[in-house]
Amino acid sequence: MRQLIAGNWKMNGLRASLDQIDALARALRDKAPHTDVLVCPPATLLAPAAARAAGSFDLGGQDCHAMPSGAFTGDVSAEMLADAGATAVILGHSERRQGHGETDALVNGKARAAWRAGLLAVICVGETETERDEGRALDVVAGQLAESVPGAATGGKTAIAYEPVWAIGAGKTPGRPEIEDMHHHIRALLTQRFGDEAALIRILYGGSVKPSNAREILGIDGVDGALVGGASLKAAEFLAIIDAAPPPA
Ligand code: PGA
Repeated sequence: MRQLIAGNWKMNGLRASLDQIDALARALRDKAPHTDVLVCPPATLLAPAAARAAGSFDLGGQDCHAMPSGAFTGDVSAEMLADAGATAVILGHSERRQGHGETDALVNGKARAAWRAGLLAVICVGETETERDEGRALDVVAGQLAESVPGAATGGKTAIAYEPVWAIGAGKTPGRPEIEDMHHHIRALLTQRFGDEAALIRILYGGSVKPSNAREILGIDGVDGALVGGASLKAAEFLAIIDAAPPPA
């Protein structure tokens, strides 16, 4: 399975930042990476970014509404993301769960909306520091997975991003054994529910991935890629992470 290296720009980027999209597109056209590459800029930049990427990598949204259209002021639908050139959408990021009160049930509906629009749903799960300290990380993630991932998940339309909340933007990451344990746990839970199909669902790690730790993290058994925040904003750093990914087994 090819790894997926996904960038989450969060609420960063004006039109001037499209030069980073250009730089990434140039570099990826020159050297055909051995990973899939996805960049999720703010929705305002999706259409111009898709035009400039011109197929050299994929674009995605950072959230969507569950409905295709309607009286939902300020929201963006999965169909709108697809229309702007997205092929994927990040869902249930902890910043949405915490800052916007998103529940597992809501994320589940958004994932089904993403599929309806033909998008890959990148569904985020992860424990807080307190939950880890209390020894509840595995249970918390199991609960999020059970409720946020709809029953019809397949590898072609679903990826899971394990993002420990305490590692996001914090400059610290779990150790190798913690990441490996969690990814194996997630894989086992997916296999219970989806059988053989589970092997095709990529499980990304996210939280303070940067060029200096990418080789180690992406080399951990069970890690099928990364969801990268801060280090995805500069093409050179993001490219270094893409380069650090192991080739498909
Ligand atoms: P970070 O963010 O890489 O800046 O820690 C990751 C994320 O929130 O997806």
